[in-house]
Amino acid sequence: MSSQRDGWPENVGIVAIEVYFPAQYVDQKELETFDGASTGKYTIGLGQEKMGFCSDNEDVNSLCLTVVQRLMERNGVSYSDIGRLEVGTETILDKSKSVKTVLMQLFESCGNTNIEGIDTTNACYGGTSALFNAVNWIESSYWDGRKALVVAGDIAVYASGNARCTGGAGAIAMLIGDDAPLVFERGCRATHMQHVYDFYKPNMDSEYPVVDGKLSIQCYLHALDKCYDIISHKLESAEIKTGSSLLDCADAFVFHSPFCKLVQKSVARIMFNDFLQDPHPEQRQIFTGLDAFREFKLEDTYFNKQVETAFMTASRTEFIKKTEPSLLLAKQIGNMYTPSVYGGLVSFLISRPVEDLADCRIILFSYGSGLASSMYSLRVTKDFSPQSDLHKLVNNLSDVKMRLDRRKKVAPEIFDNLMKLRETTHHKAPYKPESSIAHLFPGTYYLFDVDDKHRRKYKRKPLTEPVDVADQLSQNLHLGSS
Ligand code: ACO
Repeated sequence: MSSQRDGWPENVGIVAIEVYFPAQYVDQKELETFDGASTGKYTIGLGQEKMGFCSDNEDVNSLCLTVVQRLMERNGVSYSDIGRLEVGTETILDKSKSVKTVLMQLFESCGNTNIEGIDTTNACYGGTSALFNAVNWIESSYWDGRKALVVAGDIAVYASGNARCTGGAGAIAMLIGDDAPLVFERGCRATHMQHVYDFYKPNMDSEYPVVDGKLSIQCYLHALDKCYDIISHKLESAEIKTGSSLLDCADAFVFHSPFCKLVQKSVARIMFNDFLQDPHPEQRQIFTGLDAFREFKLEDTYFNKQVETAFMTASRTEFIKKTEPSLLLAKQIGNMYTPSVYGGLVSFLISRPVEDLADCRIILFSYGSGLASSMYSLRVTKDFSPQSDLHKLVNNLSDVKMRLDRRKKVAPEIFDNLMKLRETTHHKAPYKPESSIAHLFPGTYYLFDVDDKHRRKYKRKPLTEPVDVADQLSQNLHLGSS
């Protein structure tokens, strides 16, 4: 265990980050046809390409086990170096026992049990709350010099119908410490919380939420407006925002992504806020032709098509430059719920050479229905040398695109059957998952058994795959062996 450091820690932030997503997906074009939706609704209308999903042998515990083990192995971190472990999730398997306690199995061999933190739940926001708790711990008098580990994991599934295509699944793990390559800018954090029933999960027997889709979009945009207002003042106090534009303050804007089109609309929304705040919009070329919207009120325009279209057109270049690169995982996997915004961060980090990341400011917006939302700022360090922590952080994400490409495409009929299987076996005990582990990535944890007392057991698929006999035979034939 590290000893208590002298003085207060500097540059607290993300030291390492890892993502796990299922090794199978359904194609959104094929899903449109299967669901009888009009061609282009999911792909163009919502901006989605593929949707990751889990069979009955993966649950939130297994997703979190997998991502934590990956993070520790790939970054060469010892389990004895962790002093806090926080989990954000809305995938509730047990009303009492936390996912955090399940993850404690990973710490058994090193004997480290002195680890604060448990689970945090509020829709897609739990991961952000967990992250803030970890940062606050490191900046507090209770910090003993060790690292914190933050995990966000969820299986996002909807009942069949118009929301199902906005599902997804995955987990993110982040190592938090001082002298980090991605630094939380002190004081630059804004929060808006409110009571609303836009999306919630009152049925304990089902994985599915009750969702008012339109209301959830309105709430998301309203929360964005509120956070815009608060963060603008905070950035002004920190002398980061010197003019009237928030869009000009950062090199990247990363959002919670329920579906990619909403993120594009969010960039337009920030520009609309910038426009309304600007005392002299006529002096800025980007606002040319928008004078007619000067008297519009934010609260009257959540679904105003004229405003939406005008500002989406005006903000297109900014969107392409500052936000589109963060949508890779959201497009390819769908809404992972709590990990979604951090999947956006990973996507941004792997979108450009490390030297182009150095010194960037990234503004993130996290939203969880119900509702809880925050906007905050991360600053990337300047040092991108091959020995730098930034280089290491980015380098350890180098396999993400390859893993996306290696996933198996599953026909919508099979996806639909697997959703029915999850429905009928959810919380069943005793239970042995039916699905094969063949498609899982090497190193993936999977649910192996649920006993008659609902106790869950997990196994890990070996990191190295045994050579497939059929493959070997065909290779031998190709090589001319007998
Ligand atoms: N080609 C191109 N675009 C199309 C087509 C087509 N053939 N058909 C429809 N569209 C467009 C629509 O015009 C619409 O775009 P617009 O909103 O920019 O006008 C878009 O596709 C979606 O169509 P809708 O008819 O609005 O979709 P519907 O109401 O059936 O469902 C919704 C969309 C509400 C997002 C639903 O999937 C849902 O409830 N999802 C879960 C809730 C959610 O994700 N909320 C977001 C925040 S909360 C959270 O993170 C969980």
